[in-house]
Amino acid sequence: MALKSVLSAAQFTREDLDRILELSRQIELELQKRKTIPRLGDYVLATLFFEPSTRTRLSFEAAMHRLGGKVISSVGVQFSSLAKGETLYDTLKMVEAYSDICAIRHPVEGASQVAAANIKIPVINAGDGAGEHPTQALLDLYTIEKHCQISRNRLKIAFIGDIKYGRTIHSLIQLLWHYDCELVFISPPELRLGERYIRLLQENKVIYTETENIEALLQCDVAYVTRIQEERFADHREYERFKDRYIVNRSLVERAERKLIVMHPLPRLSEVSTDLDDHPAGVYFDQAQNGLYVRMALLLELLGVKL
Ligand code: CP
Repeated sequence: MALKSVLSAAQFTREDLDRILELSRQIELELQKRKTIPRLGDYVLATLFFEPSTRTRLSFEAAMHRLGGKVISSVGVQFSSLAKGETLYDTLKMVEAYSDICAIRHPVEGASQVAAANIKIPVINAGDGAGEHPTQALLDLYTIEKHCQISRNRLKIAFIGDIKYGRTIHSLIQLLWHYDCELVFISPPELRLGERYIRLLQENKVIYTETENIEALLQCDVAYVTRIQEERFADHREYERFKDRYIVNRSLVERAERKLIVMHPLPRLSEVSTDLDDHPAGVYFDQAQNGLYVRMALLLELLGVKL
C-alpha cells in the first residue's frame, strides 16, 4: 500500500521495503544515464531543519531538484519566527499552505508525529532528537542490500558506539527484523540499547548479543559505526569518558574473518579512521550517496507519482 508519511521505521512492511529498494535501484540506474528525472515539476518540498544537518537536508533537496520539483526551506530556529515565539503548530500550518510535502528535523522525539497529526500534506521524519531517523535506515538497508545482498544471505551485523542515543540505529534495527540476520551491539554498558528497543527485538525474535569488545566485529559482515553524540549528554565529562573508546581502522578491518563492510551514517569524528576511505571495506560515502536515490524514491512514493 502507498505510504502517506514516513514517521517511524516501525511502519514498514517487508512488501514496502522491497518496493522502495527496487524503486531506489531503478532511480540509481536511471541517474547513470541522465542528470534529472523530471516527474515532480508541479510540486514543492519544504525542508524544516531545527537541528544541524548536512546529508539529510542536502540529499532531500537534491532529490527534489533531480525530480524537477521545487524546494523551500527553513533552517535553524533562530532564522524562523519560532525565535519570535511562534508555536510549531502555527509554523506547520504555514508549511501546509506553501508546500506539498515536508521533511522535518527537530530536537524533540515525536515532533514529526505531531506534525503529521496536524497538517494534511505528507510529513517525513528527518530525525527527531534521540528518537528515530527512518529515511536514514532505508538508505542504510539499501546499502547493505547493494553490498551484501541481505535479501539472500544470512548476515551478522555489528553496531558500534552510541547505541543508546543513536537514532539511526533505533530505526535500522526495526527494518532488519524483516530479514534473516543476527545483531551484535558493541558499546560501553552506559550506552547500551534502551529497554524499549530490547523489548522490540525480543518480541520480533531477533537474535542479538551485547558486548564491550570491539573485536566482536571481526566475525561480522557489516560494522555499523556511530559517533558518540556530544549533544545528547547533559554532563560533558560523560562525553569525554566515551568519545574515543572505539576506533575502527584499516589494521582492525584487515583482521576480519569474512568480507566486512564498514558503514557510518556520518558525520564521523575519530571513530572511523580516514585510512579506510580508500579501502574496499569503507562504504560510508557510497552509503551517503545512496541517500539521494532512496529519498527520490520516497518523494515519488509519497506524492503518488510513478517513475
Ligand atoms: N546521517 C545524517 O543524518 O547526517 P546529517 O546529520 O548530516 O543530516
